[in-house]
Amino acid sequence: MILVTGGAGFIGSNFVLDWLAGSDEPVVNLDKLTYAGNLNNLLLLRQDSRHIFVKGDIGDTTLVAGLLNRHRPRAIVHFAAESHVDRSILGPGEFITTNVNGTFSLLEAARAYQRDLSDAEQAGFRFLHVSTDEVYGSLGPDDAPFSETTAYAPNSPYSASKAASDHLVRAYHHTYGLPTLTTNCSNNYGPYHFPEKLIPLVITNALAGKDLPIYGDGQNVRDWLYVGDHCAAIRRVLLDGRPGETYNIGGWNEKTNLDVVHTLCDILDRLAPKAAGSYCDQLKFVKDRPGHDRRYAIDARKIERELGWKPAETFESGIQKTVRWYLDHQEWVRDVQSGDYMKWVEQNYGQREGSRA
Ligand code: NAD
Ligand code: TYD
Repeated sequence: MILVTGGAGFIGSNFVLDWLAGSDEPVVNLDKLTYAGNLNNLLLLRQDSRHIFVKGDIGDTTLVAGLLNRHRPRAIVHFAAESHVDRSILGPGEFITTNVNGTFSLLEAARAYQRDLSDAEQAGFRFLHVSTDEVYGSLGPDDAPFSETTAYAPNSPYSASKAASDHLVRAYHHTYGLPTLTTNCSNNYGPYHFPEKLIPLVITNALAGKDLPIYGDGQNVRDWLYVGDHCAAIRRVLLDGRPGETYNIGGWNEKTNLDVVHTLCDILDRLAPKAAGSYCDQLKFVKDRPGHDRRYAIDARKIERELGWKPAETFESGIQKTVRWYLDHQEWVRDVQSGDYMKWVEQNYGQREGSRA
């Protein structure tokens, strides 16, 4: 079996669902269920004995050691993190606690567990660390995309905390021989995406008749990848990636934020037209995010060359699927928007000039 951390979040839950759709190998899913963790993402596995959910913190050393010794996983796939840049700006503490100290704690547990495995088990064990392209910093318009050898230059508390965790993972391979794999992926989108991030925020705000907040001039560029493609890439790396290596994962889909929002409005205008006008009428430019990285782009040639992975979805096909998913899952949206979500919206958007989001 494998141990997944953060498997009730956006990417982690997609990964667990895809894993069990394609394999009978059981999953132990360790998740603290922060605001971003949602058991409704895993409803399809309610009756499935191959999925063992454990509510807990990756930093709880006794709990993690107990899980490793009881379930004897052949791999750890580590998604658990605080993941939202805006939250890291307003409150960086949790990012250090989970992303840095939590990853350190998990690495220590993995090291102790792996040391006592048989030679054959030890050779097969993997610690796969899921990271982000944001560790590389910001690109100018004509810069080459990030490759695996691009120097780290994180700019937000979020990306700095992920960079720190990447360095720890690297060190555990070089110092202790832990068979680690690190993936650095671009912006994901798709089902079960928490509506604090751009794409699900715009879809849900549009349908609710609220503003669609565009930070700054809307010309920041992200490289978008459909979440199912990210999950497929992680499975490829887990199977055939070389221990100690890092793999960049991206969609070859650079878009400005303004383009993304216009695309979403166009799709919504077709699938769920308003009584009058276009969803684009709700677009609102608001005060920029401090330290806002201008452009991310991923050179994903290494994973294609070495492991034969490339994205199956284009942005056009993936974004259509995503909008349809949100239209078909309004109850999921209502559920995640209850409770603390509204407090966050007030905290992040209440003070931005001109915003009614
Ligand atoms: P998310 O915020 O949706 O989910 C994170 C999950 O981790 C939640 O279920 C949460 O409850 C859990 N968690 C948080 N702290 C925990 C702790 N201390 N112990 C146990 N569980 C804890 O995040 P996501 O978007 O699914 O991202 C998953 C991973 O992928 C992160 O490591 C992130 O840095 C990375 N990543 C995300 C993107 C993206 O576009 N979302 C892109 C590249 C990489
Ligand atoms: P986000 O989804 O938060 O991902 P990240 O910051 O990790 O790339 O944001 C994607 C882009 O959209 C980023 O350039 C910030 C911008 N953005 C807005 O313009 N308005 C918003 O309300 C949000 C949440 C993001």
